[in-house]
Amino acid sequence: MLPAFVKIVEVGPRDGLQNEKSFLPTADKIDLINRLSDTGLSVIEATSFVSPEWIPQLKDQREVFQGIEKKQDVSYPVLVPNKRGMENAIAAGAKEVAVFSTPSETFSQRNTNCSVAESLQRIEAVMQLAEQHHMRVRGYLSCIAGCPYEGAISPVAVTTLSEQLLQMGVAEISLGDTIGVGTPKIIETVLDHVLAKISTEKVAVHFHDTYGQALVNIYVALKMGIHMIDSSIAGLGGCPYAKGASGNVATEDVVYMLHGLGIETHIDLKKLIEVGCFITQQLGTLNRSRVSAALIAN
Ligand code: HMG
Ligand code: MG
Repeated sequence: MLPAFVKIVEVGPRDGLQNEKSFLPTADKIDLINRLSDTGLSVIEATSFVSPEWIPQLKDQREVFQGIEKKQDVSYPVLVPNKRGMENAIAAGAKEVAVFSTPSETFSQRNTNCSVAESLQRIEAVMQLAEQHHMRVRGYLSCIAGCPYEGAISPVAVTTLSEQLLQMGVAEISLGDTIGVGTPKIIETVLDHVLAKISTEKVAVHFHDTYGQALVNIYVALKMGIHMIDSSIAGLGGCPYAKGASGNVATEDVVYMLHGLGIETHIDLKKLIEVGCFITQQLGTLNRSRVSAALIAN
Protein backbone atom coordinates (compact mmCIF):
# COMPACT_ATOMS: atom_id res chain seq x y z
CA MET A 1 0.00 0.00 0.00
CA LEU A 2 1.24 3.47 -0.88
CA PRO A 3 0.04 6.64 0.86
CA ALA A 4 -2.60 8.73 -0.94
CA PHE A 5 -0.87 12.00 -0.04
CA VAL A 6 2.76 12.91 0.65
CA LYS A 7 3.92 16.09 2.36
CA ILE A 8 7.13 17.42 0.86
CA VAL A 9 9.44 19.41 3.11
CA GLU A 10 11.47 21.67 0.81
CA VAL A 11 14.95 22.16 2.28
CA GLY A 12 16.68 23.88 -0.66
CA PRO A 13 16.94 27.38 0.81
CA ARG A 14 18.70 25.91 3.86
CA ASP A 15 20.35 22.56 3.05
CA GLY A 16 20.88 23.61 -0.56
CA LEU A 17 22.37 27.03 -0.06
CA GLN A 18 24.49 26.09 2.97
CA ASN A 19 26.63 23.96 0.70
CA GLU A 20 27.14 26.43 -2.15
CA LYS A 21 30.64 27.80 -2.68
CA SER A 22 29.42 31.26 -3.47
CA PHE A 23 27.28 33.53 -1.32
CA LEU A 24 23.88 33.95 -2.92
CA PRO A 25 22.76 37.58 -2.47
CA THR A 26 20.02 38.07 0.10
CA ALA A 27 17.54 39.35 -2.50
CA ASP A 28 17.98 36.16 -4.54
CA LYS A 29 17.41 33.98 -1.49
CA ILE A 30 14.20 35.87 -0.78
CA ASP A 31 13.17 35.56 -4.43
CA LEU A 32 13.83 31.81 -4.32
CA ILE A 33 11.65 31.27 -1.24
CA ASN A 34 8.85 33.47 -2.61
CA ARG A 35 8.87 31.52 -5.86
CA LEU A 36 8.83 28.20 -3.97
CA SER A 37 5.87 29.49 -1.94
CA ASP A 38 3.95 29.75 -5.19
CA THR A 39 4.34 26.11 -6.24
CA GLY A 40 1.95 24.49 -3.77
CA LEU A 41 4.64 23.43 -1.28
CA SER A 42 3.36 23.60 2.30
CA VAL A 43 6.70 23.54 4.15
CA ILE A 44 9.82 25.47 3.11
CA GLU A 45 12.82 25.42 5.44
CA ALA A 46 13.88 29.00 4.99
CA THR A 47 17.37 29.29 6.50
CA SER A 48 19.41 28.36 9.55
CA PHE A 49 20.38 30.35 12.62
CA VAL A 50 23.73 28.61 13.00
CA SER A 51 27.07 30.30 13.54
CA PRO A 52 28.06 32.58 10.62
CA GLU A 53 31.64 31.43 11.21
CA TRP A 54 30.59 27.88 10.46
CA ILE A 55 28.09 28.53 7.64
CA PRO A 56 28.88 31.93 6.11
CA GLN A 57 26.55 31.19 3.17
CA LEU A 58 23.55 31.78 5.47
CA LYS A 59 24.90 34.65 7.56
CA ASP A 60 22.01 36.83 6.29
CA GLN A 61 19.45 34.55 7.94
CA ARG A 62 17.56 37.34 9.73
CA GLU A 63 17.22 39.52 6.63
CA VAL A 64 16.11 36.53 4.59
CA PHE A 65 13.57 35.35 7.12
CA GLN A 66 12.12 38.81 7.58
CA GLY A 67 12.21 39.60 3.86
CA ILE A 68 10.14 36.69 2.57
CA GLU A 69 6.41 36.90 1.95
CA LYS A 70 4.84 34.45 4.36
CA LYS A 71 1.83 32.70 2.92
CA GLN A 72 -0.91 31.62 5.34
CA ASP A 73 -0.89 28.00 4.24
CA VAL A 74 2.91 27.60 4.10
CA SER A 75 5.18 27.10 7.10
CA TYR A 76 8.74 28.37 7.13
CA PRO A 77 10.78 26.50 9.75
CA VAL A 78 14.42 27.42 10.40
CA LEU A 79 17.30 25.26 11.63
CA VAL A 80 18.82 26.07 15.04
CA PRO A 81 21.84 24.41 16.68
CA ASN A 82 21.62 25.84 20.20
CA LYS A 83 19.99 28.34 22.55
CA ARG A 84 21.72 31.29 20.89
CA GLY A 85 20.36 30.27 17.49
CA MET A 86 16.91 29.77 18.99
CA GLU A 87 16.93 33.22 20.55
CA ASN A 88 17.92 34.75 17.23
CA ALA A 89 15.25 32.76 15.41
CA ILE A 90 12.58 33.93 17.86
CA ALA A 91 13.77 37.53 17.59
CA ALA A 92 13.48 37.26 13.80
CA GLY A 93 9.89 36.07 14.14
CA ALA A 94 10.27 32.34 13.40
CA LYS A 95 7.26 30.22 14.37
CA GLU A 96 8.78 26.79 13.79
CA VAL A 97 12.30 25.46 14.16
CA ALA A 98 14.30 22.31 13.53
CA VAL A 99 17.03 20.92 15.77
CA PHE A 100 19.61 18.34 14.79
CA SER A 101 21.71 15.57 16.28
CA THR A 102 23.29 12.34 15.10
CA PRO A 103 24.14 8.89 16.41
CA SER A 104 27.75 9.43 15.25
CA GLU A 105 30.06 10.93 17.90
CA THR A 106 32.62 11.98 15.31
CA PHE A 107 30.08 13.67 13.05
CA SER A 108 28.60 15.45 16.05
CA GLN A 109 32.03 16.90 16.85
CA ARG A 110 32.75 17.86 13.24
CA ASN A 111 29.37 19.44 12.60
CA THR A 112 28.59 21.07 15.94
CA ASN A 113 31.78 20.93 17.99
CA CYS A 114 30.18 18.88 20.75
CA SER A 115 29.43 15.31 21.78
CA VAL A 116 26.06 13.66 21.15
CA ALA A 117 25.17 14.02 24.85
CA GLU A 118 26.05 17.73 24.72
CA SER A 119 23.94 18.13 21.58
CA LEU A 120 20.97 16.75 23.52
CA GLN A 121 21.59 19.29 26.30
CA ARG A 122 21.60 22.06 23.70
CA ILE A 123 18.37 20.70 22.26
CA GLU A 124 16.86 20.65 25.74
CA ALA A 125 17.57 24.37 26.07
CA VAL A 126 15.96 24.97 22.66
CA MET A 127 12.92 22.92 23.70
CA GLN A 128 12.41 25.03 26.81
CA LEU A 129 12.26 28.19 24.73
CA ALA A 130 10.03 26.45 22.18
CA GLU A 131 7.58 25.53 24.90
CA GLN A 132 7.50 29.09 26.25
CA HIS A 133 6.86 30.45 22.79
CA HIS A 134 4.47 27.67 21.67
CA MET A 135 6.68 26.70 18.75
CA ARG A 136 6.70 23.45 16.86
CA VAL A 137 10.06 21.69 16.68
CA ARG A 138 11.24 19.17 14.10
CA GLY A 139 14.25 16.96 14.88
CA TYR A 140 16.81 15.84 12.34
CA LEU A 141 19.12 12.89 12.79
CA SER A 142 22.14 12.86 10.48
CA CYS A 143 24.15 9.90 9.22
CA ILE A 144 21.39 7.38 9.86
CA ALA A 145 22.62 5.08 7.08
CA GLY A 146 26.35 5.59 7.48
CA CYS A 147 28.91 8.14 8.62
CA PRO A 148 31.84 9.55 6.64
CA TYR A 149 34.06 9.13 9.73
CA GLU A 150 32.65 6.09 11.57
CA GLY A 151 31.21 3.96 8.75
CA ALA A 152 28.18 1.83 9.58
CA ILE A 153 25.65 3.21 12.07
CA SER A 154 23.54 1.00 14.28
CA PRO A 155 19.78 1.13 13.54
CA VAL A 156 19.26 0.59 17.26
CA ALA A 157 21.21 3.80 17.99
CA VAL A 158 19.10 5.66 15.40
CA THR A 159 15.91 4.39 17.03
CA THR A 160 17.01 5.20 20.58
CA LEU A 161 18.03 8.75 19.65
CA SER A 162 14.77 9.26 17.74
CA GLU A 163 12.81 8.18 20.81
CA GLN A 164 14.87 10.49 23.03
CA LEU A 165 14.12 13.49 20.81
CA LEU A 166 10.42 12.68 20.73
CA GLN A 167 10.39 12.38 24.52
CA MET A 168 11.96 15.81 24.69
CA GLY A 169 8.98 17.20 22.78
CA VAL A 170 10.09 17.17 19.17
CA ALA A 171 7.01 16.77 16.93
CA GLU A 172 8.63 14.69 14.19
CA ILE A 173 11.93 13.07 13.29
CA SER A 174 13.59 13.46 9.93
CA LEU A 175 15.98 10.61 9.24
CA GLY A 176 18.92 11.97 7.27
CA ASP A 177 21.15 9.90 5.02
CA THR A 178 23.58 12.80 5.00
CA ILE A 179 26.13 11.27 2.65
CA GLY A 180 23.71 9.24 0.55
CA VAL A 181 25.32 5.85 1.19
CA GLY A 182 22.06 4.12 2.05
CA THR A 183 20.84 1.34 -0.22
CA PRO A 184 17.27 0.02 -0.15
CA LYS A 185 18.41 -2.78 2.15
CA ILE A 186 20.02 -0.41 4.66
CA ILE A 187 17.06 1.97 4.61
CA GLU A 188 14.57 -0.86 5.05
CA THR A 189 16.53 -2.15 8.05
CA VAL A 190 16.74 1.29 9.70
CA LEU A 191 13.03 1.94 9.10
CA ASP A 192 12.11 -1.53 10.36
CA HIS A 193 13.78 -0.67 13.66
CA VAL A 194 12.46 2.88 13.91
CA LEU A 195 8.88 2.07 12.88
CA ALA A 196 8.71 -0.77 15.41
CA LYS A 197 8.79 1.99 18.06
CA ILE A 198 7.54 5.16 16.36
CA SER A 199 4.44 5.85 14.27
CA THR A 200 4.87 6.70 10.58
CA GLU A 201 3.00 9.95 11.35
CA LYS A 202 6.14 11.20 13.10
CA VAL A 203 8.84 10.07 10.70
CA ALA A 204 10.19 11.82 7.60
CA VAL A 205 13.02 10.72 5.33
CA HIS A 206 15.78 13.05 4.14
CA PHE A 207 17.96 11.50 1.49
CA HIS A 208 21.02 12.90 -0.22
CA ASP A 209 21.63 11.43 -3.65
CA THR A 210 25.41 10.97 -3.70
CA TYR A 211 25.18 7.38 -4.93
CA GLY A 212 21.96 7.75 -6.95
CA GLN A 213 19.98 5.77 -4.38
CA ALA A 214 17.61 8.43 -3.12
CA LEU A 215 14.51 7.80 -5.25
CA VAL A 216 14.58 4.05 -4.80
CA ASN A 217 15.11 4.57 -1.07
CA ILE A 218 12.12 6.92 -0.97
CA TYR A 219 10.06 4.24 -2.72
CA VAL A 220 11.07 1.76 -0.02
CA ALA A 221 10.06 4.28 2.65
CA LEU A 222 6.68 4.94 0.95
CA LYS A 223 5.97 1.20 0.88
CA MET A 224 6.65 1.15 4.61
CA GLY A 225 4.08 3.88 5.23
CA ILE A 226 6.24 7.02 5.31
CA HIS A 227 4.40 10.03 3.91
CA MET A 228 6.73 12.93 4.72
CA ILE A 229 9.69 13.45 2.41
CA ASP A 230 12.43 16.09 2.48
CA SER A 231 13.89 17.22 -0.82
CA SER A 232 15.67 20.16 -2.34
CA ILE A 233 14.91 22.21 -5.42
CA ALA A 234 17.23 21.28 -8.34
CA GLY A 235 18.91 18.74 -6.05
CA LEU A 236 21.00 21.39 -4.34
CA GLY A 237 22.45 20.58 -0.98
CA GLY A 238 24.91 18.89 1.27
CA CYS A 239 26.69 19.45 4.52
CA PRO A 240 30.11 21.13 4.42
CA TYR A 241 31.09 19.12 7.51
CA ALA A 242 30.20 15.73 6.04
CA LYS A 243 32.90 14.63 3.65
CA GLY A 244 31.33 13.35 0.41
CA ALA A 245 27.90 14.85 1.03
CA SER A 246 26.51 16.07 -2.25
CA GLY A 247 23.02 17.14 -3.27
CA ASN A 248 19.72 16.22 -1.73
CA VAL A 249 17.27 14.36 -3.90
CA ALA A 250 15.69 16.92 -6.26
CA THR A 251 12.15 18.01 -5.34
CA GLU A 252 11.19 17.97 -9.04
CA ASP A 253 12.20 14.29 -9.33
CA VAL A 254 10.37 13.28 -6.15
CA VAL A 255 7.19 15.06 -7.23
CA TYR A 256 7.35 13.47 -10.69
CA MET A 257 7.70 10.01 -9.13
CA LEU A 258 4.93 10.60 -6.59
CA HIS A 259 2.48 11.86 -9.22
CA GLY A 260 3.38 8.90 -11.41
CA LEU A 261 2.52 6.62 -8.52
CA GLY A 262 -0.87 8.31 -8.19
CA ILE A 263 0.14 10.07 -4.96
CA GLU A 264 -1.17 13.60 -4.39
CA THR A 265 1.20 16.39 -3.34
CA HIS A 266 -0.74 19.60 -4.22
CA ILE A 267 2.46 20.74 -5.96
CA ASP A 268 2.63 22.16 -9.49
CA LEU A 269 5.55 20.35 -11.16
CA LYS A 270 5.82 22.89 -13.98
CA LYS A 271 6.20 25.79 -11.58
CA LEU A 272 8.70 23.79 -9.53
CA ILE A 273 10.83 23.17 -12.63
CA GLU A 274 10.81 26.91 -13.38
CA VAL A 275 12.08 27.63 -9.86
CA GLY A 276 14.81 24.99 -10.23
CA CYS A 277 15.98 26.62 -13.47
CA PHE A 278 15.85 30.07 -11.86
CA ILE A 279 17.99 29.16 -8.85
CA THR A 280 20.59 27.16 -10.75
CA GLN A 281 20.93 30.05 -13.18
CA GLN A 282 21.42 32.51 -10.32
CA LEU A 283 23.99 30.24 -8.71
CA GLY A 284 25.67 29.25 -11.96
CA THR A 285 25.50 25.68 -10.76
CA LEU A 286 24.33 22.32 -12.03
CA ASN A 287 20.62 21.53 -12.01
CA ARG A 288 20.63 17.95 -10.72
CA SER A 289 16.97 17.28 -11.49
CA ARG A 290 16.82 14.60 -14.19
CA VAL A 291 13.10 15.20 -14.66
CA SER A 292 13.69 18.88 -15.26
CA ALA A 293 16.36 18.18 -17.88
CA ALA A 294 14.18 15.60 -19.64
CA LEU A 295 11.01 17.68 -19.70
CA ILE A 296 12.84 20.77 -20.92
CA ALA A 297 14.61 18.79 -23.67
CA ASN A 298 11.30 17.27 -24.85
P1 HMG B 1 31.21 26.82 18.53
O1 HMG B 1 32.26 27.56 17.77
O2 HMG B 1 31.62 25.65 19.36
O3 HMG B 1 30.32 27.82 19.41
O4 HMG B 1 30.15 26.34 17.46
P2 HMG B 1 30.55 28.47 20.83
O5 HMG B 1 29.35 28.13 21.64
O6 HMG B 1 31.91 28.12 21.35
O7 HMG B 1 30.52 30.03 20.48
C1 HMG B 1 31.53 30.65 19.68
C2 HMG B 1 30.97 31.94 19.11
O8 HMG B 1 29.90 31.64 18.20
C3 HMG B 1 30.38 32.86 20.16
O9 HMG B 1 30.58 34.19 19.72
C4 HMG B 1 28.91 32.55 20.10
O10 HMG B 1 28.09 33.60 20.55
C5 HMG B 1 28.72 32.34 18.61
P3 HMG B 1 31.64 35.15 20.44
O11 HMG B 1 31.22 35.17 21.88
O12 HMG B 1 32.97 34.46 20.23
O13 HMG B 1 31.50 36.44 19.70
N1 HMG B 1 27.55 31.48 18.35
C6 HMG B 1 26.57 31.79 17.46
N2 HMG B 1 26.42 32.85 16.64
C7 HMG B 1 25.30 32.85 15.88
N3 HMG B 1 24.38 31.86 15.90
C8 HMG B 1 24.52 30.80 16.70
C9 HMG B 1 25.67 30.74 17.53
N4 HMG B 1 26.11 29.84 18.42
C10 HMG B 1 27.25 30.30 18.90
N5 HMG B 1 23.60 29.83 16.70
C11 HMG B 1 27.93 25.75 16.78
C12 HMG B 1 29.02 25.57 17.81
C13 HMG B 1 26.86 24.68 17.03
C14 HMG B 1 27.33 27.13 16.90
C15 HMG B 1 28.56 25.56 15.36
O14 HMG B 1 29.25 24.35 15.35
C16 HMG B 1 27.54 25.55 14.26
O15 HMG B 1 26.91 26.56 13.99
N6 HMG B 1 27.36 24.38 13.58
C17 HMG B 1 26.35 24.24 12.57
C18 HMG B 1 26.94 23.58 11.35
C19 HMG B 1 25.85 23.40 10.32
O16 HMG B 1 25.01 24.27 10.13
N7 HMG B 1 25.85 22.26 9.59
C20 HMG B 1 24.87 21.99 8.60
C21 HMG B 1 23.51 21.78 9.14
S1 HMG B 1 23.20 20.12 9.65
C22 HMG B 1 22.84 19.29 8.17
O17 HMG B 1 23.02 19.83 7.13
C23 HMG B 1 22.24 17.92 8.20
C24 HMG B 1 20.74 17.89 7.87
O18 HMG B 1 20.49 18.46 6.59
C25 HMG B 1 20.21 16.45 7.89
C26 HMG B 1 21.09 15.50 7.06
O19 HMG B 1 21.30 15.71 5.87
O20 HMG B 1 21.58 14.55 7.69
C27 HMG B 1 19.93 18.67 8.91
MG1 MG C 1 20.72 17.35 4.67
